[in-house]
Amino acid sequence: MSKVNDNFLIKMKGVKKIYDLGEVKVVALKNVNLFVKEKEHISIMGPSGSGKTTLLNIIGCLDKPTDGEYYLDGVDVKKLDDDHLSGIRNKKIGFVFQNYNLIPQLNVIENIGLPLIYRGIDEKEIIEKSKYYANLVGLGDRMYHRPTELSGGQQQRVAIARALVNEPVIILGDEPTGNLDTKTGKEIMEIFKKLNEMGRTIIIITHDVKVAEYGERIVKILDGEIIDER
Ligand SMILES: Nc1ncnc2c1ncn2[C@@H]1O[C@H](COP(=O)(O)OP(=O)(O)OP(=O)(O)O)[C@@H](O)[C@H]1O
Ligand SMILES: [Mg+2]
Repeated sequence: MSKVNDNFLIKMKGVKKIYDLGEVKVVALKNVNLFVKEKEHISIMGPSGSGKTTLLNIIGCLDKPTDGEYYLDGVDVKKLDDDHLSGIRNKKIGFVFQNYNLIPQLNVIENIGLPLIYRGIDEKEIIEKSKYYANLVGLGDRMYHRPTELSGGQQQRVAIARALVNEPVIILGDEPTGNLDTKTGKEIMEIFKKLNEMGRTIIIITHDVKVAEYGERIVKILDGEIIDER
């Protein structure tokens, strides 16, 4: 694994993604070139089916490109096997989804600490860290609630804290405010803004122009290609 000598965290050149369904092949990404520097905040917009989630999944090492180059922090992702890929994902990436994806049986602290359990970290340290991140996202007074006892905005805060607990360099959001009302969505975006100011790279898919405007750059996708960047 060689370090490329520049300051891009994400380097994509000619990335293509084809979903092979046997008879049918879906071209989800045609030719994506994307460069992201550390500490940038990027918004991704585009119509339904344009390839946004596919792109985010590739950025987050949940999936690999069919063709093209992707370097994450200087590492050629194509060369990694599944174990290394999930290792990188755990260390460097935090995901936040539209529907929070929390575990209903677990309370706030336990949900936040989950990624650390997979890493075999000592229980006391897990609880300490989970509490720290619960406080950071403003859930200090809800630590022992279960997801069903929380509002949508609070559930999304739990999901953000869970994404942070491994101290990733990149936070990826797939329509993280999609299920929230405008006011709550704004509160969630203020958290992402704070995280960005703390040095995290943020990449967020959204249909909402107001949410997109939090980004320094808006990347527009149409039919599997980036058509506009500003
Ligand atoms: N696992 C899959 N297998 C086959 N085709 C897929 C798969 N995932 C996505 N696709 C197809 O790839 C294209 C891009 O899908 P993608 O989910 O990336 O779109 P999107 O921009 O995130 O849309 P939305 O705004 O609705 O979430 C679509 O045509 C979709 O049907
Ligand atoms: Mg999507």
